[in-house]
Amino acid sequence: MDRRKFLASVGGASALAAMSTSEKADALEQAMGEELDSIVVKPGLCTTYGIEQKPIVRGGKRDKYFMMGHDPRLPRMSDKPTLIEFFKKRFGSVQHMCQSARLAKLNGLPEKIVLACLLHDISVGGLIRMDHGYWGSQLLAPYVDEEVTWAIKYHQALRFYADEEVGYSYPKAYIRYFGPDFTPEPYVAKDAEYAKNHKWYMSARQITMNDAYSFDPNIVAKIEDFEDIIGRHFKQPEEGLGYDNSPSAHMWRTMIFPNNFL
Ligand SMILES: [Fe+2]
Ligand SMILES: [Fe+2]
Repeated sequence: MDRRKFLASVGGASALAAMSTSEKADALEQAMGEELDSIVVKPGLCTTYGIEQKPIVRGGKRDKYFMMGHDPRLPRMSDKPTLIEFFKKRFGSVQHMCQSARLAKLNGLPEKIVLACLLHDISVGGLIRMDHGYWGSQLLAPYVDEEVTWAIKYHQALRFYADEEVGYSYPKAYIRYFGPDFTPEPYVAKDAEYAKNHKWYMSARQITMNDAYSFDPNIVAKIEDFEDIIGRHFKQPEEGLGYDNSPSAHMWRTMIFPNNFL
């Protein structure tokens, strides 16, 4: 990076001279990160509508281009990305999803449901947190059985509603997360009611029942443990996810290039 800019960021040459080697390294790393942040913008989908988002300076002289292409800060995706590659390089909540799928497997559930548990939160850490069941379901629709996407869509609403008859109680974690008086939005209540009377109710309910709300630190579940199930139940496109022209290809591309300006 530019030497003058770096010196200005640490408070001048004498301030830099007074720093230890490791302090200098930390200061350089921070300054480089801030420089990169000034040319990277968040996807429009994640806009905060002006809150906490740096305004784009228009007409100003710039010495850097906007972010386009592979973001150098992220693991580089291959030209033909697979689902497992997304697990390794893009998704968050991986341990949570793998532990949920492990639980479903231990409980003897059909492979389709194990897959639904494995994929139920892919939108949370990969694409968008808000309405993650709906986004995750759309993302997967071209590649898995309809029952799997249905279950993923409706687990989002059902997790807020206990069904003691099948052994599902309201998660204690949600009292901590959202407070004791939290009430879901009316559309969530409506969808939960609809799901309760559907023939696939138990498929979505199983996701909530195997959702690992608390993690066992002694268990490490890996995506590789589910390679067989993915192979049998996920239609991996030959061209790679994002490049197969499916109705959700653009959503996979958004995860490949999450910080592109346009
Ligand atoms: Fe979820
Ligand atoms: Fe979950």
